[in-house]
Amino acid sequence: MTIEENVLLGPLTTLGVGGAAKYLVRVRSEGGLVEAVEFARAKALPVFVLGGGSNLLVGDNGFHGLVLRMEIAGSLAFDEKNDAVEVEAAAGMDWDGFVLATCERGLSGVECLAGIPGMVGGTPVQNVGAYGQEVAETIVSVRALDLTTMQFVSLSAAECGFAYRRSIFNSTARGRYVVTSVTFRFDRRLRVELRYAELQRRFEGQSPTPMEVYQAVREIRHGKGMLLVPGEADCRSAGSFFKNPVVSSAVFQRISDAAEGAVPYWDAGEGKVKLAAAWLVEQAGFHKGFAMGRAGISSSHTLAVVNRGGATAGEIVALRDEIVRRVEERFSVQLEQEPVILGDSRRLSSPASSL
Ligand code: EPU
Repeated sequence: MTIEENVLLGPLTTLGVGGAAKYLVRVRSEGGLVEAVEFARAKALPVFVLGGGSNLLVGDNGFHGLVLRMEIAGSLAFDEKNDAVEVEAAAGMDWDGFVLATCERGLSGVECLAGIPGMVGGTPVQNVGAYGQEVAETIVSVRALDLTTMQFVSLSAAECGFAYRRSIFNSTARGRYVVTSVTFRFDRRLRVELRYAELQRRFEGQSPTPMEVYQAVREIRHGKGMLLVPGEADCRSAGSFFKNPVVSSAVFQRISDAAEGAVPYWDAGEGKVKLAAAWLVEQAGFHKGFAMGRAGISSSHTLAVVNRGGATAGEIVALRDEIVRRVEERFSVQLEQEPVILGDSRRLSSPASSL
């Protein structure tokens, strides 16, 4: 086990801000994971699990503990079972590479999740979803180290408690498990089903293959600055910075009555409505390309906060707070941040850093 010290975390995240980790271990096997956790325990250090860093905001003060950078790799073994195919993917595998491998085999189930940055192990944590699909639909089980017992366990999809951008891993059992692999199941009889209007329009009257959807989703994401292409300015982001708020139909009605045009929304069931956070942010006076110091809003999508170059976490948080304040003031709707914060969310910058 190699223990690195004082490692800057910004470069390990897509947003590219934040301070250093006191210790960092690159975890390449389950045995290595146990060893690293034991090292942290011996030194009474807090542990943080880092995957692709694509949904993470690191504070300027960094992290005074051990970061486990998950790099467990392994080849994919497709297990044919009558009408289905099961495949276990290691936590450190690149997510988009996994999606591509399934599409190449003509399997439908994750093709709409093409182009999402990050690694396989991070996907069950926030139940990654886009363009009408979420990983909860195809995950059969998640293998993880239970830090309370130091045993490896296999959790069924039901035990993972999936909901919109949520699972037990980021809510009730936060910090308890370290995901080491995820097993997915694809039903061979399933044909591509397009649920998102943008994709339906694009393939009107056609029956696209998973591979064609994979390419189309990457193109759409690229147009929204949500595909990480090195060198493109809008890419220094953590994707959607806010969740789409789910509100009661009464709140939706109040907002609709006051709005000039149609209010974009999705039916969230049980008399609830999911609003488009990007629309709320725009109506509250922000626009694509908005800048506040070195923090800003993507020039292609209002929901992505970007690091315009050299931003501190303090600057990102100042913009976040301004957006939340103005949306609240205008609509009495509280936006909830989507990326995970490593550090103190109220005081993300060191006293010395420029705000
Ligand atoms: N809109 C604007 N301005 C914009 C962009 C969008 O007003 O700049 C409004 C439009 O009315 C549009 C609506 O917002 O119709 C929805 O926009 P979009 O289809 O781009 O989706 P989103 O709700 O903003 C969600 C996910 C994305 C995911 C897309 C596609 C959340 C928080 N975000 O975004 O996920 O890729 O749908 O399914 O649920 C992520 O989580 O990091 C992420 C990128």
